[in-house]
Amino acid sequence: MTTLGLARTSKSSTADTDAAVRLYGPDAFEGMRHAGRLAAEALDMLQDYVKPGVTTERLDALSYEFAMDHKAYPAPLYYRGFPKSICTSINHVVCHGIPGPKPLREGDILNIDVTLILDGWYGDTSRMYAVGAIPRKAERLIDVTYEALQRGISIVRPGATTGDIGRVIEAYARAERCSVVEDFCGHGLGAVFHDRPNILHYRVNTKGEDQGPGVTMQPGMIFTIEPMINLGKAFVKILPDGWTAVTRDRELSAQFEHTVGVTKDGCEVFTYSPKGLDKPTFSAK
Ligand code: MF3
Ligand code: CO
Ligand code: CO
Repeated sequence: MTTLGLARTSKSSTADTDAAVRLYGPDAFEGMRHAGRLAAEALDMLQDYVKPGVTTERLDALSYEFAMDHKAYPAPLYYRGFPKSICTSINHVVCHGIPGPKPLREGDILNIDVTLILDGWYGDTSRMYAVGAIPRKAERLIDVTYEALQRGISIVRPGATTGDIGRVIEAYARAERCSVVEDFCGHGLGAVFHDRPNILHYRVNTKGEDQGPGVTMQPGMIFTIEPMINLGKAFVKILPDGWTAVTRDRELSAQFEHTVGVTKDGCEVFTYSPKGLDKPTFSAK
């Protein structure tokens, strides 16, 4: 995801205008199908390796090899100084966790975020993984976050606004007594990584400020939806490494991400798992 300000320098999406948003044609959609599918296949491949004792560094190395084997390049690598090919965000890490030597432990929850560039097109997707049996509250958070993304996707069609995505995700998360992270958002992408429009996952922020309707969707727009949902409060801080975002209250955080394109009458999701592994299943305790 992008920080509000990673894609653009403003902290608000309200300055986005429809005119400023790139519209892509059939060739781009075809390119995005391939890039999106490959990114999803990378997440599928990683599933078999997510086990207690495995390091996130190893998952990173596997992802880099996967990209090379498929003539693709991992977009995060050296992006604004990011040192690795994927983001791995464990437990209270909200996003942008840097793969490292610490082994995964039974009961951890993990988000892996893969962005692959294939033939110039960016496929960006992330999922949650359970390391062995996880606490019931972690399962619930993962289910809520998955459903939040589905609800966001379900309203994408010409004439809807990007603000509608935030509205449905926020309403659902609130009803489930969870909070929506405000410091990072989804983003336009396609031939570039982080583009307009910003896709906020809330409509009214914790200060009570309405973020407005945003941009009206049109066929040919391509963007991510990638809500980060917390069991505790919405507030995050960035660790001294300059990347890792964690919840201030150290409660669990979860995230799912898909890349979608607006079509004539709805949307196409480019990053579904070919193996149907989009939603994690939980092992018995
Ligand atoms: N894949 C992330 C996103 O969803 C961005 C990661 S950029 C990095 O937009 F530099 F942190 F890797
Ligand atoms: Co993204
Ligand atoms: Co991503």
